[in-house]
Amino acid sequence: MATVKLDDVDLPKGIQRIRPLPDPALGILWDSIILDECVKSQLLSQAVLNFKLRGKVDRSVIPLHGVILLVGPPGTGKTSLARGLAHRTAESFQKAEFRLLEIEPHMLTSSAMGKTQRAVSDLFSQSIAEAAVDGPTIVLLDEVETLAADRSKMSLEANPIDIHRATDAVLVQLDILAEQHTNLLFLATSNFPQAVDSAFTSRCDLIMQVPMPDREACGRILEDCLKGLSISYPAILKLLVAPDFKCCAAECVGLDGRAIRKMVVNALASSPQTAMNPELITVENLLAAARAAKANREQGV
Ligand SMILES: Nc1ncnc2c1ncn2[C@@H]1O[C@H](COP(=O)(O)OP(=O)(O)O)[C@@H](O)[C@H]1O
Ligand SMILES: [Mg+2]
Repeated sequence: MATVKLDDVDLPKGIQRIRPLPDPALGILWDSIILDECVKSQLLSQAVLNFKLRGKVDRSVIPLHGVILLVGPPGTGKTSLARGLAHRTAESFQKAEFRLLEIEPHMLTSSAMGKTQRAVSDLFSQSIAEAAVDGPTIVLLDEVETLAADRSKMSLEANPIDIHRATDAVLVQLDILAEQHTNLLFLATSNFPQAVDSAFTSRCDLIMQVPMPDREACGRILEDCLKGLSISYPAILKLLVAPDFKCCAAECVGLDGRAIRKMVVNALASSPQTAMNPELITVENLLAAARAAKANREQGV
């Protein structure tokens, strides 16, 4: 992709960022997402297989499109996992230089009326195709429902026909890219799978549900968060051995991973004193913050 520089200024429309892979920072992200190891292993295996198999086995045998879709409630770690997966996949192929293209769907759909379809076609047929010619490429399609919206649920009065055509363009381009470029993998995420067009989901090689954390996972996320804080504020480690610490994990059930980490920040902000000296945080502060976060959730805020 000779015309594309690796800085944000000259990126083609719709591409938010291009990163060379592997990128150890994304490895840290992958490790920070606490999830059943089987899920992570299956994701990595599917992604690795995509690059191994597609150049060797004809599409008439296995019609792979090179698309993995992560679905689950907001805040469950889908975007982080997708970025981390890109790194881990690239790391599995020692000699190849991979690249991660991050797409910003809103940049395409906010185009002037009548231009979305064209913007989508150009992105896929030019920018993404050129990257795939250059070397193995992973494309993050975050919040894909924006691009591949379910046409059957779309009212043409409420939604511009432009978006309708954008979905068509995505599907056409995915088929073309699947035929022509075997060293390409799309990692798509969606908070609202019911809003994604069924023709898109039928093209996915793997659809993985990313669940809300269970009690054990809540405990581990909380622990990971507190351990991270203890690097700067060592006394925070005392919370992990406090008798009531297990109650905090139980109180977090019903919160997603993002909400748990934000709840810890709220606990640190329990009073001006804890804000000034985070080492003063107590288990009671955590319990109260977790209860408040859950109460908000129950009221839909
Ligand atoms: N299962 C999890 N384990 C650890 N942290 C998590 C988990 N889920 C979410 N998080 C935290 O929440 C933040 C937001 O996650 P993100 O990947 O943006 O979620 P999503 O894309 O599903 O909305 C991440 O930075 C991560 O720290
Ligand atoms: Mg996300």
